[in-house]
Amino acid sequence: MNLIDSRVQKILRAAGSAPSVYNTQPWRVSVAGSTVRVHADPARQLQHSDPHGREMYLSCGAYLFNARTAARRESLDAVVRVLPDPHDELLVAVLELEPGRTPNTDELELSVAIARRTTSRTPFDDQPLFSDVLHAIVSAAHDESADLRVIQPSEPVRADVIALVRRAEALAAEDPVARAEELAWTGTDADRADGIPQELLGPASADDHAGARQFLASTGVAQFERMSTMAVLTTPGDTPRDWVLAGQALEHVLLVATTFFVRASFATTVLENPTTRHDLRRVLSLDAAPQMLMRLGYSSMPKHTPRRSVDELRS
Ligand SMILES: Cc1cc2nc3c(=O)[nH]c(=O)nc-3n(C[C@H](O)[C@H](O)[C@H](O)COP(=O)(O)O)c2cc1C
Repeated sequence: MNLIDSRVQKILRAAGSAPSVYNTQPWRVSVAGSTVRVHADPARQLQHSDPHGREMYLSCGAYLFNARTAARRESLDAVVRVLPDPHDELLVAVLELEPGRTPNTDELELSVAIARRTTSRTPFDDQPLFSDVLHAIVSAAHDESADLRVIQPSEPVRADVIALVRRAEALAAEDPVARAEELAWTGTDADRADGIPQELLGPASADDHAGARQFLASTGVAQFERMSTMAVLTTPGDTPRDWVLAGQALEHVLLVATTFFVRASFATTVLENPTTRHDLRRVLSLDAAPQMLMRLGYSSMPKHTPRRSVDELRS
């Protein structure tokens, strides 16, 4: 293995730690010399809950951001071309890796956070985020041409957002196809390299004042916090290109949060249902497309979900 090969291997391993909907890891990758091509993998798309592939492309965007960030750790610059490609509609991005300078402290800190970031599904401490930390997290979204609409615990609209989360959860629970899709990817066996094992689903919320996602396969019930900060990630448009942009912004936000020991928990059912997604945009008076709803807060370090090996992803 030559030098560039071993660095690419490290970059791809780090990229694969990205968050993805139900840990589907809906990406494929091909490498030719210093050129890396990332494709979406529709065999791993949620055909019912994500018919247009919004969450699939968003997940691939997170993979792409990790690849960009991990490249800097290897003193490489990634020149990135993001879809569309009229000849290859599943192509997400092409990265050309070029020699770069040694990473600065911020770049190094961000790349180290890749392996530390995990999704939280347990209650947070009842403590809002510090304003300077929040400012850094919002700036990360801006760096990727996205926006983060913060919802503070004191804002009356928070109750409206939580009511919409509950409505979306109730509607999905009545939808047998959505339930079957969720159960295919959650509560998965310990030997699977994808999906979310039961022990990581966290407890169901006893009395949901937090806006937490309720999984069918969750065991146990807990009281969730009332004071966590919520945030909605938005993009100017709502095309596959915007979804890839949203994924990069999401991972940038999550890695910066990780550097401050802030964890994120997602509740995306509200965005999978077109009616509740529209209502979320209306109650928050958003002038951009909502792509992700999260709670941000402090909790103990959750365990890592499994990942497929780099060799399995190569096409
Ligand atoms: C588009 C997208 C939607 C997600 N939706 C949810 C969700 O509704 N609830 C949840 O608990 N996690 C959600 N997640 C987090 C994934 O389940 C998580 O990233 C995956 O299981 C891998 O685990 P990790 O983030 O701890 O590495 C979502 C992630 C992405 C990228």
